[in-house]
Amino acid sequence: MISNLEITLRKTEQPKKKPDWNNLGFGKQFTDYMFAMQWNSKKGWHDAEIRPYGSLTLDPAAMVFHYAQEIFEGLKAYCAQDGSIILFRPVDNLNRLNRSALRMCMPEIPAQAVLEALKQMIDLDRDWVPNTPGASLYIRPTMIATEAAVGLHPSNEYIFFIICCPVGAYYAEGFKPTKIYVEDQYVRATAGGVGEAKTGGNYAASLKAFSEATKKGCTQVLWLDALEHKYVEEVGTSNIFFVINDEIVTPPLGGTILPGITRDTVLTLAADWGLKVSERRISMDDIMAAARDGRLTEAFGSGTAAVISPVGEFVYQDKNILIGNGQTGTVAQRFFDTIQQVQRGLLPDQHDWLVRIN
Ligand code: COI
Repeated sequence: MISNLEITLRKTEQPKKKPDWNNLGFGKQFTDYMFAMQWNSKKGWHDAEIRPYGSLTLDPAAMVFHYAQEIFEGLKAYCAQDGSIILFRPVDNLNRLNRSALRMCMPEIPAQAVLEALKQMIDLDRDWVPNTPGASLYIRPTMIATEAAVGLHPSNEYIFFIICCPVGAYYAEGFKPTKIYVEDQYVRATAGGVGEAKTGGNYAASLKAFSEATKKGCTQVLWLDALEHKYVEEVGTSNIFFVINDEIVTPPLGGTILPGITRDTVLTLAADWGLKVSERRISMDDIMAAARDGRLTEAFGSGTAAVISPVGEFVYQDKNILIGNGQTGTVAQRFFDTIQQVQRGLLPDQHDWLVRIN
């Protein structure tokens, strides 16, 4: 695989109007530039370019449309106080993309060279990195199968691209506790499937449950295991943590759960702070019992988009389980504050998580 990319730069002649920084929402406005490169079995990765953000032209037979051979990532850049831009754990995201690529029979990208291209592109887009509190630049690397063919086989052609958008909080609630529907009918992933790959099909398959949950006034779905519909897996857009008897509990990665980078950040910080942590299977019966006798004090999700999102209430089989009186708990708050400060360069980077663009 090539480790250096020759990148062509095409500058924009029409920079876009900047958004209302105090009212960004999530994922609606895109920056001036994008990165793209092509792959085929003869040339490998080629035609890498940073160019003005714009549409892709694809053959209607492009295999992504028919067989969903697609993977993506989500990471963020932040504006530091000294005006530099900070990428949070970008190499971990690009490496995870490569693991998804292997699972989905797609070519790996040269992660270091792509990181350099990303830095170059964000430098051009630097006026798009928000410096308002709670806001960041969300970065979406994506790979799709582009070979025009309707027979089923791994595509012989791909495009990899990166687009960016300035974002505020992912949930309308912001950092306020969310209400989560515990899904005990539909399932997200089963052992041996593609649950641990970040592939669009996992998200498409979740939409039915998600839309039914929103009709019940919930923000997201908590998935249970596919076999027994009993053990907690993850939330629609994040991993899940519980605080039970002062112990932080999260389901283990076992092939069906997305190996979250923010999940790993939480586990690493918890170890730094000497907190008791357990990665173990936990059933809804355990959660209900712990909630009933006051041992369950907090629950929160972790993910790039939402960072840390406290759960105020679970709805499970028509029962409402209130967590911490529906308020944000001290553990979730500590993770949220610390992660945000590390991401903005306000705390020491003890784990080499930050990549700066000066
Ligand atoms: C992220 O947290 O970055 C994700 O990719 C989740 C997505 C549904 C917004």
